[in-house]
Amino acid sequence: MEPRLAEILEGVRARSGRVLALTGAGISAESGIPTFRGAEGYWVVGSRNYMPQEMATNEMFARAPDEVWRWYLYRFGVCKDALPNAGHEALVALERALGDRFTLVTQNIDGLHRRAGSRRVFCIHGDAAYVRCAGECGLGVVDLPAGLVPRGNGALTPSEREALRCPRCKGWLRPHVLWFDEYYDEEHYRMDSALRAAGAADLLLVVGTSGATNLPMQIGQLAYRRGAALVDVNPEENPFAEMASFSRSGFFARGSACERLPEIVRALGA
Ligand code: APR
Repeated sequence: MEPRLAEILEGVRARSGRVLALTGAGISAESGIPTFRGAEGYWVVGSRNYMPQEMATNEMFARAPDEVWRWYLYRFGVCKDALPNAGHEALVALERALGDRFTLVTQNIDGLHRRAGSRRVFCIHGDAAYVRCAGECGLGVVDLPAGLVPRGNGALTPSEREALRCPRCKGWLRPHVLWFDEYYDEEHYRMDSALRAAGAADLLLVVGTSGATNLPMQIGQLAYRRGAALVDVNPEENPFAEMASFSRSGFFARGSACERLPEIVRALGA
């Protein structure tokens, strides 16, 4: 490990500091789930007929719910088949070692943190394992109906359409994910809880994100302004790596999540 990184982590460990981990698609790349903006990324490949970001909108869901569900069910199948990796497991070990001094905020909807055993986690973009009523009739957040994934990429069958009806009002169910034409909130996406954790962190540990979305950048800027230590794990430069390089106690730990996280969490006392 680089001496400067070891020094920063030892400082946090020695003063029993609070750690906030912020993850993106990169932590699941080594589990076989494509990232969003990488070469084979979801926002690059998208679907046959629509621009990627078009698919992930309320506006599109209102116009073509079948098309949006077809695309999401295909993606949810990829998530369901994937297994947590050493990066996810390292953060579980850190949570176990630090207890309530640890919080995990993830942009990932793949559920791999939860399946690895993370409990103190806020899913700020939602979770593929859940749905809710598109009409918000009061159903709340419930499990994705069984038997829908994995599936190919064909059109929805009549029985799948039936399964995607709200059991309460018979309208459409929708994926419990944050769409591009929607905004974060506390009820569904734990926005205030995530910002509170950023306001109390002694170390912000960022893993596998390109910093393309709003709330994660707010979290980074809040931690940076407060002078919290900032470590970024990513094989490529990104806005968080830049923030870390300007920070008094910051470090860009270039590399993959599976390569770098196990040694980092050991240095923090896990
Ligand atoms: N380990 C660590 N980082 C990796 C790895 C890896 N093995 N492989 C790739 N990365 C990095 C890439 O270099 C890139 O910086 O992960 C990042 C993935 O960036 P994006 O594809 O943009 O994904 P993310 O940052 O999670 O996107 C944020 O955008 O569209 C929305 O809702 C979507 O949650 C998503 C959000």
